[in-house]
Amino acid sequence: MSIAKEIEKRKTFAIISHPDAGKTTLTEKLLLFSGAIHIAGAVKSNKIKKSAASDFMEIEKQRGISVATSVLSFDYRGYKINLLDTPGHKDFAEDTYRTLTAVDSVILVIDAVKGVEEQTEKLMRVCRMRNTPVIVFINKMDREGRPPVELLDEVEEKLDIRVRPLSWPLGMGSSFKGVYNLYRNSFAFFRPSKQTIEDDVRVFDGLDDPALAETFGSDAAALREEIDLINGVYDPFSVETYLGGTVAPVFFGSALNNFGVQELLNTFVEIAPGPRARPTTKGDVEPQHERFSGFVFKIHANLDPKHRDRIAFLRVCSGRFERNTFYHHVRLDRDIKFANPASFMAATKSLLEEAYPGDVIGLYDSGTFAIGDTLTEGEAFMYKGIPRFSPEVFRELRNLDPFKTKQLEKGIAQLTDEGLAQLFTQRTSNRKVIGVVGELQFDVLKYRLLNEFGANSDFVPISAHKAVWVRFTDPKDAEELFSIRGNFLYYDKNGNLVYLAESEYALRMVQQKNPNVRFLLSVEHNDQTVEMEGTVS
Ligand code: G4P
Repeated sequence: MSIAKEIEKRKTFAIISHPDAGKTTLTEKLLLFSGAIHIAGAVKSNKIKKSAASDFMEIEKQRGISVATSVLSFDYRGYKINLLDTPGHKDFAEDTYRTLTAVDSVILVIDAVKGVEEQTEKLMRVCRMRNTPVIVFINKMDREGRPPVELLDEVEEKLDIRVRPLSWPLGMGSSFKGVYNLYRNSFAFFRPSKQTIEDDVRVFDGLDDPALAETFGSDAAALREEIDLINGVYDPFSVETYLGGTVAPVFFGSALNNFGVQELLNTFVEIAPGPRARPTTKGDVEPQHERFSGFVFKIHANLDPKHRDRIAFLRVCSGRFERNTFYHHVRLDRDIKFANPASFMAATKSLLEEAYPGDVIGLYDSGTFAIGDTLTEGEAFMYKGIPRFSPEVFRELRNLDPFKTKQLEKGIAQLTDEGLAQLFTQRTSNRKVIGVVGELQFDVLKYRLLNEFGANSDFVPISAHKAVWVRFTDPKDAEELFSIRGNFLYYDKNGNLVYLAESEYALRMVQQKNPNVRFLLSVEHNDQTVEMEGTVS
């Protein structure tokens, strides 16, 4: 099959949600649907258990298993679908942000009872930065939730995206009857069951079809009225606005009951984008570009001492990847070949002979990869758009064993390459501050520094609110910053200047006093000069 045909077949996406909204359940139902798995519970068992939320080793065990489900590939209606898993635990949110750079679209799951929750807002901001097309699935319609119109308003308001319902629910909770598909004029009847996978659907001849009243009795008029209202309020659905990332089509359903999942999947394969051109330091590269290229968006290290392997996940962006072929590691300016590239499918890992744009490959790594690295077939460009955000928690690094300084430095370099943490070194001294997304990561760092590098370290809390990258063209513009806040200026790993703001107030003051300096809450992972289009606060 030609490369163009392979590209056409691929749809690479992620499901995102606030924990507990139903991401795992929906993932499992999609897989059951496509025939990729046959037993309910296969995905679920990989989920990080809530009881383990404070024990990182337990979480790591769970994460170890979930590596096998990092990429779930399945075939559906002639398409090859790659579903990239994202960790639900908020301390690993950075992993999720990066995974979002490797997908072509997203399905966002919202709990009908809880509405838009905090973590969803953050994840959506990352999608909005890249104009990633989004389909919204409002889940748990079998429970007494919030009125659908209210939910849609909340999505628009909090997630800064316009919505367009493509289905409309009749009833909710105990009176939930099903959903009317506005696109196909069909009604899918809700039959609470975890077993059936085909929806019970009846097609109508539009909203004026007398069969509607025969079927729904007095509910028919209310349904007609609501749908008329919806069609009046929202612009007609256009695939272009969805693909441009400005309008999100919305479906209602219940993942647990397998309801609305078929409709979601059918629409997804119909409208979701395949691999598209991606920006690099040498301009956009089309997936059809005949030479292979791709980038590393996630590195997973196994903490089990018996299996201490590390896997770099690479998204193929152009050409064809082949096993045992030399490819160019652009940052290291070195050619490397891979004897055992892996593909993943629900708990099984298999040797991969070739891969195409949209696919994700697992490469065994002995420390040669960092997040954002690009592999090419000899060309010297790097993929852009892999973000690095300000950490949330900061601590000063203390070396508890002066004889192991080298080991500590090596360990920190390695672990920051993996994206586990960020390192900031004070401009005027050797003080080192480590920033992470969640407290849990300090436990992981300490453990790994000791067990993998023999370095005994400690992390001392400091008061820092955010790390902001500082950009200016004329040094005069930053005079105030250097003279008054000099002690708060650091360099990140790539030598970029960073201001560690003590508080939100201090950050605001500094911004006011240095109006010609730019303070960025996110930058590119591997590029020292290019900044992201927007910033995430
Ligand atoms: P997550 O991955 O987004 O964190 O959510 P997950 O799928 O694990 O679902 C969270 C909880 O919500 C689970 O219940 C799940 O069964 C339930 N759930 C998912 N979809 C629906 C739905 O459509 N309707 C209803 N009523 N519940 C739904 P749990 O009690 O936490 O776990 P479990 O004991 O059922 O495994």
